[in-house]
Amino acid sequence: MRTIRKAPEMQAEALRLRREGKRIGFVPTMGYLHEGHLSLLREARKRADALVVSIFVNPAQFGPAEDLSSYPRDLERDLAMCAAAGADIVFAPADGEIYPPGYSTYVVEERLSRGLCGASRPGHFRGVATVVAKLFNLVLPEVAVFGSKDYQQARVIERMARDLNFPVEILVAPTVRETDGLAMSSRNKYLSPQQPAQALCLFRALEKAREMTGGGERSLEKIVAAMKTLIEAEPEARLDYIEARDAANLEPMTVLDRPTVIALAVFIGSVRLIDNAVLAP
Ligand code: PAJ
Repeated sequence: MRTIRKAPEMQAEALRLRREGKRIGFVPTMGYLHEGHLSLLREARKRADALVVSIFVNPAQFGPAEDLSSYPRDLERDLAMCAAAGADIVFAPADGEIYPPGYSTYVVEERLSRGLCGASRPGHFRGVATVVAKLFNLVLPEVAVFGSKDYQQARVIERMARDLNFPVEILVAPTVRETDGLAMSSRNKYLSPQQPAQALCLFRALEKAREMTGGGERSLEKIVAAMKTLIEAEPEARLDYIEARDAANLEPMTVLDRPTVIALAVFIGSVRLIDNAVLAP
């Protein structure tokens, strides 16, 4: 496995692989890898001759009051995990490689990125779309794998790839959870020893929604209200949002008459966690 630090070197290597007829699979990450990331690496590995993983904590997708400086990092450990998962190249650029002085070009998706995390994190998806577009141009993948844990992000990236004609297939893989149901996230590391139990309220709220749907409930307002009650009962949980949206176009929904994503963001203490589930009528 090779570690590449420089953007031009990454692109030259990708062009070389392509000239050799190799199919490049790509998994972009911000590092501090966990089993959720590794599941994406395995998906990409199956579909490609060369597996590239990027590790880059992207400053453009963090708001001024967010956790950029404290975002967990451990490159040594990440590299060992990538090697074990069969990565051929880890692209781990410095900030200046991606955003050199005078950088002034951004990619803005204008529909799916409104609302949900786009409302609570202004500029977040502009940062995500920009960095993913740049990474696609540097890594030249034929297939790129994302996680449905970041449901809105996956939809925004699919749309960006389609709208801007990136010749890449976007694959979205299921959320990997701890045995108790907590969605794996690099940010779980911030939770104090007592907080993971509280963080389970996200999963329990989604279970509640599934249970109500299974019992025939079709009012998304009632489902969301029941989820809110469950979360508000948790002393350290502060709800950011819970919303029901059309699973494909993310338009708001009130009646469960087609596939619907229930997405939520909850602060547990100062840690903001997200999760979602897709409900079918
Ligand atoms: P990061 O949070 O590191 O996540 C990298 C990829 O792993 C994303 O596609 C995310 O959806 C997926 N992922 C995270 N937790 C997961 C889980 N529990 N199960 C399955 N997949 C999971 O998302 C980002 O980084 C950044 O926004 C990025 C796309 C790299 C752009 O900077």
